[in-house]
Amino acid sequence: MTFDVVTIFPAMIAQALAAGVLGRAIETGILDVKVHDLRDFAGDRHRIVDDVPYGGGPGMVLKAAPVFRALDAIEAARGATLRVVLTSPQGVRFAQAAARRLAACSGLVLLCGRYEGFDDRLRARIDEELSIGDYVLTGGELPALVILEAVGRLVPGVVGDQQSVAEESFSRGLLDFPHYTRPAEVVARQADGAGAEVLRVPDVLLSGNHAAIRRWRKREALVRTLARRPDLLAGATLDVEEREILRELEEEGTGASDGRD
Ligand code: ADE
Repeated sequence: MTFDVVTIFPAMIAQALAAGVLGRAIETGILDVKVHDLRDFAGDRHRIVDDVPYGGGPGMVLKAAPVFRALDAIEAARGATLRVVLTSPQGVRFAQAAARRLAACSGLVLLCGRYEGFDDRLRARIDEELSIGDYVLTGGELPALVILEAVGRLVPGVVGDQQSVAEESFSRGLLDFPHYTRPAEVVARQADGAGAEVLRVPDVLLSGNHAAIRRWRKREALVRTLARRPDLLAGATLDVEEREILRELEEEGTGASDGRD
């Protein structure tokens, strides 16, 4: 899959992609990511890509023409129809379903918004506008990286263990169950300084009973989802066993707490 990121801070993107799972996928050629400096498409020797807003007011507005030139150049170089995504706090909220949908595209262009905003006519070349959450960042570079990471890791071969991608949080609309690794006991200081506490791995995970472990994991995922994100349950795909566990939990009145404060 190809990604083209258009930004005025190319170093921010390049640095973040130099390591980790995505870095390796780029190295091995599974992902083809190119970072484009919007200033290269400014069209003047001062490389200016922003201007004052019509109608007055504070701040600068990203100009449309450099973005159009950048998109023309990317489309010509890729020779394919690309899906163009603009990151902005006004966008539709990005979530796992959008990551799955975008991972089915052959190529994505991520346009990083900047400054107080961008010339609205830029929308003429945009397929979708995405926000990563209800907060305002200084620019679209981190959101573009978030989208790139969430989409890129769904491309087959990027994450070594596809099973873990299929089973993880949100893949079926539930939060993930808790995970543990060795040793079976760890000592933690209590938060109030009252001494030490031995934290044990739940017995079922040490039992070797695979059916019981599977059921426990399903139950824990449901307990967490009920306690933290009950809104997710409406859109979740549950199997017969999960529906049965959910009924049990509802009868027990569990779900108000999953052990967190
Ligand atoms: N640019 C600034 N804030 C943003 C956000 N929350 N999501 C996407 N792009 C942004």
